[in-house]
Amino acid sequence: TPLSHIRNFSIVAHIDHGKSTLADRLIQSTHTVADRDMKEQMLDAMDIERERGITIKANTVRIDYVADNGEAYVLNLIDTPGHVDFAYEVSRSMRAVEGSLLVVDSTQGVEAQTLANVYQAIDADHEIVPILNKIDLPAADCDRVAEQIEDVIGIDASGAIRVSAKTGVGIKETLEAIVHRLPAPKGEEDADLKAMLVDSWYDSYLGVIVLVRIIDGRLKKGERIRFVSNGTIHHVDRIGVFRPQMQVVDSLGPGEIGFLTASIKQVRDTRVGDTVTHEKKIVKPLPGFKPSQPVVFCGLFPVDSSQFEDLRDAIDKLALNDASFSFEMETSAALGFGFRCGFLGLLHLEVIRDRIEREYDIDLITTAPSVVYRIFMRDGAMQELHNPADMPDLSVVDHLEEPRIKATILVPDEYLGDVLKLCQDRRGVQQDLTYAGSRAMVVYDLPLNEVVFDFYDRLKSVTKGYASFDYQMTGYQTDNLVKMSVLVNDEPVDALSMMVHRDRAEMRGRAMVEKLKDLIPRHMFKIPIQAAIGGKVIARETLSAMRKDVTAKCYGGDATRKRKLLDKQKAGKKKMRQFGKVEIPQEAFISALKMD
Ligand code: GTP
Repeated sequence: TPLSHIRNFSIVAHIDHGKSTLADRLIQSTHTVADRDMKEQMLDAMDIERERGITIKANTVRIDYVADNGEAYVLNLIDTPGHVDFAYEVSRSMRAVEGSLLVVDSTQGVEAQTLANVYQAIDADHEIVPILNKIDLPAADCDRVAEQIEDVIGIDASGAIRVSAKTGVGIKETLEAIVHRLPAPKGEEDADLKAMLVDSWYDSYLGVIVLVRIIDGRLKKGERIRFVSNGTIHHVDRIGVFRPQMQVVDSLGPGEIGFLTASIKQVRDTRVGDTVTHEKKIVKPLPGFKPSQPVVFCGLFPVDSSQFEDLRDAIDKLALNDASFSFEMETSAALGFGFRCGFLGLLHLEVIRDRIEREYDIDLITTAPSVVYRIFMRDGAMQELHNPADMPDLSVVDHLEEPRIKATILVPDEYLGDVLKLCQDRRGVQQDLTYAGSRAMVVYDLPLNEVVFDFYDRLKSVTKGYASFDYQMTGYQTDNLVKMSVLVNDEPVDALSMMVHRDRAEMRGRAMVEKLKDLIPRHMFKIPIQAAIGGKVIARETLSAMRKDVTAKCYGGDATRKRKLLDKQKAGKKKMRQFGKVEIPQEAFISALKMD
């Protein structure tokens, strides 16, 4: 297909505004899939995902469309991960296409998630076609929503298309808009091969499947290719496109999007954003490539220690398909055997943790998330610290450095004050503040350590969900950091120790012990709960003794009720962890580590 007849696009939408339904309708109306094979939500591969216990990420489809002008076009739709948290992956897939459909529910209007993604599209220089969806509903208010798109996002919505992805109204207009309003890709057939690695995932039959966007040159089956970032060379054994099922083709040329397989064993051998070329060619790498490095670490331990092997299996499987997730075994005096795991960010952590719990049915204890510190020893050596429990004695440490980030926050005016306060409270240094309409954009230099705890949650709650947030690592900086330990009944609980800034240690220590006091049930004896730096106690609470006998209240004969209560106790016990003589419920770990 000549470049002039290719259109590459993505769909940006808030959850539930109709992205999948619209994609289905585009596929169906162009007979990409025969009607009888059309299943609801073609692009949603969740079933297979569940079946195989792995993620099928390739939500990409090639649509053949004959436009009203009689010309045949190839339309490539790439689905972007909805999570703003994987901002880097979103930004990569956005750079693989030239335009976006912005789908907004005409009964709802613009929402926060839409904003974060649409700004990514704007950053990628996309042409954007606004789509007002769900116009079949009586509550649809297209004029108001179009105005809102102009006010809030700042893009021209006069040509917004009114669509019902449900009934099919406006689908034809949408296809015509893709052809006439989105630009054709640029690229040169005769140049050296240059392709962008957009995504990759593991398939149990074909091995690693690599989604590529060809920028220049042509890629053919049987050729040898090189990943520019790490210099590895692979023999291409298969090339194809998604319709949305895989269909093998002989080659892919400039502007085209498709997949290749090359007997690559692990997803971690491929890097999103990398440049792909022919074995012997030297090309300038695509700009902005950064290999994803885990920046947040935490321990994952099974609540039930007999599930350790199951946890290992689950982690192995998840890691197979997620290059940015790292792990190694860890033992904790308090929690037994588990894994120290590295993530791209806190939301990545939450996604993985939820998947292990949901898909593999393993209850987990998650320890305090920690960033990677650099410890400079008195003897001049430097080592990385992934786990506060491994912090060496202060007598051998010269100084510590912590990672900092540049955070960009977009927020409606009325919440700006709260956002500034939040950033200030987290040791932030303001770098920029600008306005775009009724929205403010603030840029802060922040310690990552202050962001990994509950920054997103706080940001969301103080802005009622209307802020969008993105960050990038900027580097390391020295600061007055100390390890704070927590002692329950004079026993240190390693899982609760954390690195904190000296000035904030007392506040954090106090908050922690107060919380634990509420979270740990009373025992038959008094329990001191302390936070300490080195040998020095900085905060202390005492949990008073109590007779804990829930059946005491059932006077006389109700034996069934008594048994029920005892059963409940037993079930509860399983979720407890023994520290010396004290039992701590697992929720205590999770809740104690949240700040509020
Ligand atoms: P996620 O997959 O959760 O990200 O949402 P999505 O944006 O893909 O939305 P999806 O296509 O799943 O649609 C959300 C709901 O809206 C579904 O129940 C759809 O049936 C419904 N829906 C989508 N488009 C329309 C429309 O034009 N009219 C009406 N009435 N309902 C629609």
